[in-house]
Amino acid sequence: MSTYFRHSSKTMMKLWVLLCLCLGDVHGRKNVLFLVSDDMRPNIGAYLGPDFPSPVHPKMHTPNLDALAARSLLLKRAYVSVALCNPSRTALLTSRRPETSHIWDIGPYFRQYGGNFTTLPEYFKQNGYRTIGMGKIFHPGNSSGGDDPVSWTDTYAHAPDDYKLHNLLIEAVSEERAKALPLQDQLLAEYAIQALKEVAPKARSGEQPFFLAVGFRKPHIPWNFPARFKEYYPLESLRLPPNYYAPVGMPAIAWHNFVNLTRFKDMQPYHVPNAGSINYTFPDQITLEMRQAYYSCISYIDYELGRVIAELDNQGLTNNTIISFWGDHGWQLGEHSEWQKMTNFEDATHAPMMIHVPGATDHGVVTEKLTEFVDLYPTLVELAGLPKLDMCPPNSQNVSLCTEGTSMVPLMTNPTSEDWKTAAFSEYARIGNGLAGETVIGYTMRTELYRYTEWVNFKPMPIYKPLWDQQLGVELYDHTKDPEENYNRADDPSYKDIRAELSRNLRLGWRGALPKTRT
Ligand SMILES: *[C@@H]1O[C@H](CO)[C@@H](O)[C@H](O)[C@H]1NC(C)=O
Ligand SMILES: *[C@@H]1O[C@H](CO)[C@@H](O)[C@H](O)[C@H]1NC(C)=O
Ligand SMILES: *[C@@H]1O[C@H](CO)[C@@H](O)[C@H](O)[C@H]1NC(C)=O
Ligand SMILES: *[C@@H]1O[C@H](CO)[C@@H](O)[C@H](O)[C@H]1NC(C)=O
Ligand SMILES: *[C@@H]1O[C@H](CO)[C@@H](O)[C@H](O)[C@H]1NC(C)=O
Ligand SMILES: *[C@@H]1O[C@H](CO)[C@@H](O)[C@H](O)[C@H]1NC(C)=O
Repeated sequence: MSTYFRHSSKTMMKLWVLLCLCLGDVHGRKNVLFLVSDDMRPNIGAYLGPDFPSPVHPKMHTPNLDALAARSLLLKRAYVSVALCNPSRTALLTSRRPETSHIWDIGPYFRQYGGNFTTLPEYFKQNGYRTIGMGKIFHPGNSSGGDDPVSWTDTYAHAPDDYKLHNLLIEAVSEERAKALPLQDQLLAEYAIQALKEVAPKARSGEQPFFLAVGFRKPHIPWNFPARFKEYYPLESLRLPPNYYAPVGMPAIAWHNFVNLTRFKDMQPYHVPNAGSINYTFPDQITLEMRQAYYSCISYIDYELGRVIAELDNQGLTNNTIISFWGDHGWQLGEHSEWQKMTNFEDATHAPMMIHVPGATDHGVVTEKLTEFVDLYPTLVELAGLPKLDMCPPNSQNVSLCTEGTSMVPLMTNPTSEDWKTAAFSEYARIGNGLAGETVIGYTMRTELYRYTEWVNFKPMPIYKPLWDQQLGVELYDHTKDPEENYNRADDPSYKDIRAELSRNLRLGWRGALPKTRT
């Protein structure tokens, strides 16, 4: 082949690519494999490290997530908008925070209470992608009008859960039993593998890219899982929570009562009068068994995720598919003597997130910069080359397409960038009717050094405004000397100036903490 010919075919190629981009043509765009896990805190091998903020032990068996992390942008400090499924997922999938979506709880649907926002999968659909959803992506049922039908090109799929009816918090299932009566996430992985086989030919030829969203249910309770995963976590190797007590000086409003955990048949012995209240602790044995079951479920999901990722490879799609993974919020496993999510502590608001971009993150990029779940939407849009989103104006209920996040793409080349957000914001509605009738909200902000929270009265629908001068509790945790958040220093006179500054910044909100070049 002559040099001239090669040169000219390259030029032709460039022109063709340019043409495709200008016309917004979908041909040759990267696919997206969008993987989600329910209630998975960052208890993943890849998150281990001396600098890592949340208590991660024992050694986790998560080979597939570790391998994905090793070829991804690993967001070591990503924070959810709300430590509860529906509001967290709504924020991520619409890139609107609760003040805009008006979603703080399970039940209400953002299209009814917030606005007719274009969701992340819907935007890919509008741009010519085949969008397929399965499992838990939006919170199912009323919270999403039944998995937000407008987001998907294909019929939405759920795998049945035949174990739920057993009403057991912990159920280790033998291999034979799991064969005869498959676990829900086992089935879901198989659905995902089937879907990949189906979309692969057109994705390979460049005819139509896909956005495949797969939402696994574990380690959400109840913890049913293949028994073999318990072997990675022998009880004698497990430890009790290092801080099996509520923080000193914690205001009562910060507390989530977890008595609901004792509703299961196998938890009846612990259904005692004070179960779930501040400083209630389960006996050591069941505490360890609960931790063991949670860890086992993480390893189980790691295995199922691994099967789906392997199929992507089998189909020859690895080189042109972006893979994102996230868990919808953290989880307390007895830290603070607290269980479940539904608080504003680090353990509940901090969640795993990673993004593999072929050709850009293949050798792994780790960042400890503060990031937020609303950032994923604009990031994936930029990575796929779709038209970028504008920053939302205030009160953007009538703006269908915009973002309240910041694309994380710059962190891929500069993971220690100084020009980045100075805080990550979360909030939790403690009192209210769930249907945009919240009356007490705890606003929290994680900065490099501190976590700062104010619980205040809230004027619900149709006003939706915090009443900052009607405070019900303030928390200040100093992560430089107290990464477990065991001492509330809000009333410590030596933190007076710090508290004042943090309070100012909390009220300024997320727009006040944006990177300088992107405000
Ligand atoms: C919401 O927006 C979609 C387009 O994204 C449109 O098809 C639909 O009619 C809108 N629904 C309402 C209730 O306005
Ligand atoms: C869902 O919404 C319908 C109609 O508003 C209501 O009747 C039903 O009780 C709701 N279901 C749940 C589980 O909240
Ligand atoms: C919970 O226990 C811790 C540690 O013993 C103690 O400092 C704290 O005051 C207790 N909280 C309440 C509300 O009893
Ligand atoms: C306990 O959790 C179940 C399942 O999420 C829910 O249906 C029930 O309303 C909860 N009960 C209480 C008292 O919170
Ligand atoms: C993907 O790209 C890499 C480097 O460009 C190459 O070594 C590898 O063989 C490719 N794999 C597939 C499945 O195309
Ligand atoms: C959105 O549009 C509706 C109908 O035109 C209007 O009543 C409402 O005030 C608007 N909301 C905002 C926040 O602009």
